Amino acid sequence: MKHLIRTDDFTIEQIIQVLHDAEHYLQGQFDPILKEKIIITLFFENSTRTKSSFEIAAKRLGAEVVHLDVQKSSTQKGESLVDTAANLDAMGPHAMIVRHAHAGVPNILAEHTHASIINAGDGAHAHPTQALLDLFTLRRHFGELKGKKIAIVGDIKNSRVANSNIELLTRFGMDITLVAPPHFLPDSYLKMTHNLHDVIHNVDAIMSLRTQTERHSHQTYGSLKDYASDFCITKELVGERDIILLHPGPVHRNIDIDDMMLKDPRCKVLEQVRNGVAIRMAVLKALIA
Ligand code: CP
Repeated sequence: MKHLIRTDDFTIEQIIQVLHDAEHYLQGQFDPILKEKIIITLFFENSTRTKSSFEIAAKRLGAEVVHLDVQKSSTQKGESLVDTAANLDAMGPHAMIVRHAHAGVPNILAEHTHASIINAGDGAHAHPTQALLDLFTLRRHFGELKGKKIAIVGDIKNSRVANSNIELLTRFGMDITLVAPPHFLPDSYLKMTHNLHDVIHNVDAIMSLRTQTERHSHQTYGSLKDYASDFCITKELVGERDIILLHPGPVHRNIDIDDMMLKDPRCKVLEQVRNGVAIRMAVLKALIA
């Protein structure tokens, strides 16, 4: 194991070890095991959670982090992505954490560098550390996940978070239903519905997704307000049900989840973010310690 580009780059045993290490890290039990390791972050798309939590994770374990400011880098002078990566690689980093709008970029970098490549999100393809932190959050709440029911709600077709979660949560035996308007549903073998009311009474967890407007070029899907009227997770919809609610962030307030539900203790959005630091520490340990 050298790179993390999709969740299935890790075996089940490796994932269990990551979850185990993350639990220790969450309790504040960690040593500088990455002392003298150098990590470069390359974010060609914006990020609040993933970039910051990787930096905190790396620093907590003693690594040095160098951030390439893409807007001020020589990519703006026409240097290709592969040449950029090869030049950074020549400086001897142990890992490069990359986010890019185009699916497949981490795979290309992995072919042209000696460093471990960690995918921090590539187009609509994959976001493996988000899925790992979602798995961690679900297991901390439920324990065993086999047979637990989850509805993934929203712009599934354009979501790397959905792709990675479908890949990972099915390996852990979760029963997944995809819930979205027809234009946001992918081709899939999974159960699907356009009606949130069909599933809300029969799930243990809901994963709401942001509408990925940045990936909707040349397509018109109606207004976010129209979407919200059928797919926003509201306090009224959830009622007193014994469920938990996840969302990878950033949340479109009152489009994806309403204000009241965001304040509800069943909403685990900030818990996911906190868990993300621990999971990313565990991923860095797995790949470069
Ligand atoms: N969940 C997630 O990827 O958030 P950021 O885009 O802020 O990193």
